[in-house]
Amino acid sequence: MEQSTKQKRIFSAVQPSGNLTLGNYLGALKNWADLQDQFECIYCVADLHAITVRQEPAVLRKKSLDTLALYLACGIDPKKATFFLQSHIPEHTQLSWVLGCNTMFGELSRMTQFKDKSQKHADNINAGLFTYPVLMAADILLYQADLVPVGSDQKQHIELTRDIATRFNNSYSPTFTVPEAYILKSSARIMSLAEPERKMSKSDPNANASIFMLDRKDDIIRKFKRAVTDSEAVVAADPARLGIYNLVNIYSSLTGKSAEEIEREFEGKGYGDFKIAVGEACADVLAPVQKEFDLLTRDKAYLDGILREGTEKASCIARKTIQKVYRKVGFYLPNSK
Ligand code: TYM
Repeated sequence: MEQSTKQKRIFSAVQPSGNLTLGNYLGALKNWADLQDQFECIYCVADLHAITVRQEPAVLRKKSLDTLALYLACGIDPKKATFFLQSHIPEHTQLSWVLGCNTMFGELSRMTQFKDKSQKHADNINAGLFTYPVLMAADILLYQADLVPVGSDQKQHIELTRDIATRFNNSYSPTFTVPEAYILKSSARIMSLAEPERKMSKSDPNANASIFMLDRKDDIIRKFKRAVTDSEAVVAADPARLGIYNLVNIYSSLTGKSAEEIEREFEGKGYGDFKIAVGEACADVLAPVQKEFDLLTRDKAYLDGILREGTEKASCIARKTIQKVYRKVGFYLPNSK
């Protein structure tokens, strides 16, 4: 196949539906930056997905550009990676329709994110919330991505994407690259600091449950100090002790130290010392990102330029795929001559 001789392609996205958290950073953005030298990377701001939940228009507009600025501030280089907003490339919604006609109601009904969000937004269980994974499949398949770096909460969606791609390929002849999820173990699922049985989330109403990427050092340390743990007072990577396990994973992802090294480092010390060390490590990692973010958001013309260039590049790939798909499903295309 064409792809095997070429550099593998990565696609991923974040919804600009709130303030990005440490979960988004460790589960996604940090890895995106690490992958840019090895792969051809395409990173999107998923603004279409964001409106499956009600958004304040002015806030959504601002958060969309802020999300792009955060991608860049994490060290993802626009000379190496391609950036764009999902709503700027109409092929996403075009492909989403075709894929929706190749996705079963039962498959979408089984998605845990749909079930969770329907519970959280019981007054707004809209069709977009239900077909959300189809649009996500369209995002990925449009660019013939090989790998999709995400946190483990997105694994089910990637599996569905694989099923849709395989079904389409079998029905219409090979069309899509069947992508794989790329998930790092220690940062796959960063949990809430207040309720460690739940994932850390942008939309958590309890501000103490999440570290936000733009939180100041004092707040970061305070939130880690208050993080829910247990009464055993032994720093250990024990999955049964959710709170401390989460903090060990966070510290490991931030510092690159293994769980064993961390257990040794804090042997005989209480949770207090450990929590401060995690807070300091987190603030140290986020400080340069925040500094860069402040600079970038002052230069809207620069960000717009990055988007224009990225949209142009991504559009070329998207157009090719949609033309291929339209031809395969039997849509009449007039002769261009
Ligand atoms: P979103 O915006 O919820 O999250 C963006 C990325 O951050 C990861 N993530 C986490 N990782 C570890 N621990 C956490 N607590 C945590 N919270 C979030 C997510 O797994 C994700 O990688 N549907 C997607 C956006 C999307 C997308 C795509 C992703 C749209 N199209 C195509 C990949 C490919 C979403 O809502 O992510």
